[in-house]
Amino acid sequence: MPVIVVIGAQWGDEGKGKVVDLLAEEADVVTRFSGGDNAGHTVVNRYGKFKLHLVPSGIFSPRATAIIGNGAVINPGVLLDEIGQLNQRGVDTSRLFISDRAHLVMPYHVLLDGLEEESRGGKAIGTTRKGIGPAFADKIARLGIRMSDLLDKEVLRERLHFIIGGKNAILTKVYEVSPLSEDDIYNQYCRYSEQLSPYIRETTIMLEEALKRKELVLLEGAQGPLLDPDFGTYPYATSSSPLAGGGCLGAGLGPTQINQVLGVFKAYCTRVGSGPMPTELKDEIGHLIRERAHEYGTTTGRPRRCGWFDAVAARFSTRINGFTRAAITRLDTLDTLPRLKICVGYKLDGESIDYFPASATALDRCQPVYEELAGWQVPTSDIPQFDQLPPLARQYITRLEELVACPVSLISVGMRREQTIWKMAIL
Ligand code: GDP
Ligand code: IMO
Ligand code: MG
Repeated sequence: MPVIVVIGAQWGDEGKGKVVDLLAEEADVVTRFSGGDNAGHTVVNRYGKFKLHLVPSGIFSPRATAIIGNGAVINPGVLLDEIGQLNQRGVDTSRLFISDRAHLVMPYHVLLDGLEEESRGGKAIGTTRKGIGPAFADKIARLGIRMSDLLDKEVLRERLHFIIGGKNAILTKVYEVSPLSEDDIYNQYCRYSEQLSPYIRETTIMLEEALKRKELVLLEGAQGPLLDPDFGTYPYATSSSPLAGGGCLGAGLGPTQINQVLGVFKAYCTRVGSGPMPTELKDEIGHLIRERAHEYGTTTGRPRRCGWFDAVAARFSTRINGFTRAAITRLDTLDTLPRLKICVGYKLDGESIDYFPASATALDRCQPVYEELAGWQVPTSDIPQFDQLPPLARQYITRLEELVACPVSLISVGMRREQTIWKMAIL
C-alpha cells in the first residue's frame, strides 16, 4: 500500500479536509505535516460537520492512527479544545498522537502576530493572527519550545526563562505593551503538559512500522503552494511549506517513500488575506460565487476573495509539487453560471507570459488572459458518475485536466463524502 501526499494546490481552502476524510476510510495512518491552527479543514460525515484546525481529517476513520507531525506548530489550548469537542460529539481520539518534535505556539507568538500585523499598516499580510509566523520564525531561530520540552518541566522552565526576557523586551520596548508573566505561562503549560503527555510520541517510528506492514499512509497538508514561503506570493505567504516536499520534512520520511501526490484544486480560485490574485473577481460574479458557495474563512470567518480558475498558477503548482493525480472540488458551485472563464496566460506590462512570476508586485500587475467556455447550467450535486455529468461540465473538467497537466482522479460536487465522482483510481 502506498504513501499518498494530499495537499491543496492553490491558496488553501480547496477542500483538503473533505478529500482526506474520504480517503482515510481506507487508511491506516493520517499525518498532518505543516501549518498550525491557521488551517481550517471542514469535514462533513456521519458524525456531523467539523472544522478541524490541528487534528488530522483522518480522525473519523475507524482504523487510522492520526498523527500531528513534527512539521506542524501546535497551540496546546486550541488542540485540547478541539479534542474535547470531538470527544463530546462521539469521535474517538484514542488513536491521536503528536510528534515530540513538533513546536509549541506560545502566548507571545499570538500576541506578536497581531502586533506585527498592526505595525505593517497598509502592507499587512492578513494573517490569521494565530501566532503561526512568529512560532515558525522561532523554530528556525532556535528559540522554539518543542513537545519533548513540554514533557520535562525543568527543561520547560529553563527554555521559557531563556526566551521570555527577549520576548518581553520586544513587547515593552518595540510595541510598548505590557510584558507577559513567565510564571503564568509556565504554570499554564505545565497543565498542558499533563493533559497532552499521553499523546506525545516518537512518531517517525510509528510511520516506519506502518510502512513495513505495507499500510496505507496519508500525509495531509495545510494551506496551499501559492502561500508557500519559497514559491508562493511572498511576502504574502504563510510560514511553513504546504508543498508535497514539505510532507517528507514535516512527517519524517524520505522522498523515495512517497508513491502518489494528490493535488486538490477548487474548480475556481479563492484566497483569504492580502496579496496578488490575478483572476480575482471584484464584480457581481465574484459576489455570487462567494454567497452561493459560502466562501468565508473556516478559521477567521473573513470573506474569501473569489475568482476564475487560474491555469497558469495551477500548472506552476503541478510543476513544483509533481502531482500524480488531481482532485477538482466544488464543481457544483459553478452550476448556475452561463459562461465560465479559465485564465490561460498573463499579460505583464504588455508582454504575454505563461509563467507565475516570483515577484508579488509583478504578479499584481499581471492581467489574466481568458479562455471562455459555456456553462452547463444543470445541478451536479447528485450526479454519481463522470459520464452522467452534463457534456459541458465534462468539457470543463477535461480542459482543466489538460491545463493542469495531471490526470483528474476525483471530482467533488458537494461537501458530503458521497458527493464524489471517481474518474480514475488513486490506489
Ligand atoms: P480545506 O482547508 O482545504 O480543508 O478547505 P475548507 O474546509 O477551508 O473549505 C472548503 C469548503 O468547501 C468547506 O466548507 C467544505 O465543506 C466545502 N466543500 C468541499 N468540497 C465541496 C464541494 O465539492 N462542493 C461544495 N459545495 N462544497 C464543498
Ligand atoms: P487551510 O489549511 C487559506 C493565509 C492567511 C494569510 C496568510 C498568512 O485551511 O487551507 P498565517 O496565519 O499563516 O501567517 O497567514 O496565509 N492562510 C490560509 N488561507 N487557508 C489556510 O489554511 C490558510 N492558512 C493561512 O489568510 O493570507
Ligand atoms: Mg481551510
